[in-house]
Amino acid sequence: LRGMNGRSFLKEIDFTPAELQELINLSIDLRDELETQKSGGATVTKYLHDKNVILLFSKTSTRTRLSFEFGADELGANTVYIDPNSSQFGKKESVADSARVFAGMADGIEYRGFAQSDMEAMAENAVDTKGRHKPVWNGLTDEWHPTQMIADFMTVQEEFGHLGNDITLTFVGDGRNNVAHSLLVAGTMLGVNVHIVAPKELQPASDVVAIAEKYAKETGAKPMITSDVDEGVKGSNVLYADVWVSMGEDNWEERLNLLGDYQINADLMAKTGHEDTILMHCLPAYHDMNTKMANDAHENFPGMVGEDGIEVTNEVFEGSQGRQFEEAENRKHSIKAIMVATLGDMSMYPES
Ligand code: CP
Ligand code: NVA
Repeated sequence: LRGMNGRSFLKEIDFTPAELQELINLSIDLRDELETQKSGGATVTKYLHDKNVILLFSKTSTRTRLSFEFGADELGANTVYIDPNSSQFGKKESVADSARVFAGMADGIEYRGFAQSDMEAMAENAVDTKGRHKPVWNGLTDEWHPTQMIADFMTVQEEFGHLGNDITLTFVGDGRNNVAHSLLVAGTMLGVNVHIVAPKELQPASDVVAIAEKYAKETGAKPMITSDVDEGVKGSNVLYADVWVSMGEDNWEERLNLLGDYQINADLMAKTGHEDTILMHCLPAYHDMNTKMANDAHENFPGMVGEDGIEVTNEVFEGSQGRQFEEAENRKHSIKAIMVATLGDMSMYPES
């Protein structure tokens, strides 16, 4: 774990497969430590005592913000949240100048943005006037969602007891989005078979597939990219959904046209051939008409959006196989692990 101290987490390949696995194991340890405290046992270790952490969001968030904010607090750090509109960032001040200001005042920087190149620029320039570099954590860009992956594969490990190529996780939907790209790379690095089931127009970028194929040779995982839903879901232990229109996009009609056959519903769950296939979803989800976005899509595109959900049906979402709220809770434990490993005082860690 000490080897991760001081490093940024901008995309999955910033860490080795073994380091990703260590982050998952540390997430579980931190979860257990918190449970011990809750049941009246020893209090949690303040690995981030007196550290300052900036939470910069250029897109909205529920889970990622709460995880960093509560997580940092539980670890003894102070946080300041900067919302998409109320600072100079991005409008009156460049990424590079902002990064140098942040690094002068804080010890770590979470950033949710649009272009991955801005994330890289943030990390490159996060250096204070004494030359000290501060770690940057990617809280989601258009291209990657790496912190989500530690929670996701923690959830898979908790469900099946281990990670390996006897487990197949199949993402169904917009295979070019941040979550699909991250699942393909992170899963392959961790030895899990990741299938991406998407129409040709929405299959993962070729450079991302190439990264996964390189790691597959090392780990023995068998990634698959297909537009054939039946072929893709067969034998899957996990079906994974995400929204069809991501933050920063406004192309509902195109996506509804392309993805109409890629909804996760009870029929699709049955096609895996396993009765115990679980559903995962990074959330937020359109599984019924209880949000404004889902209602708008239903009204604006008659006949293309049923009332029983968009990317996943309410029946499956609310069914016994849904693990999306375990996954959401694991965001906090895993984000704490990322902060502890990259910024924490590791002399407090029991095995060091
Ligand atoms: N899954 C996820 O990143 O959720 P938020 O957008 O609510 O942070
Ligand atoms: N693909 C989604 C993930 C949200 C957590 C988005 O970028 O909006």
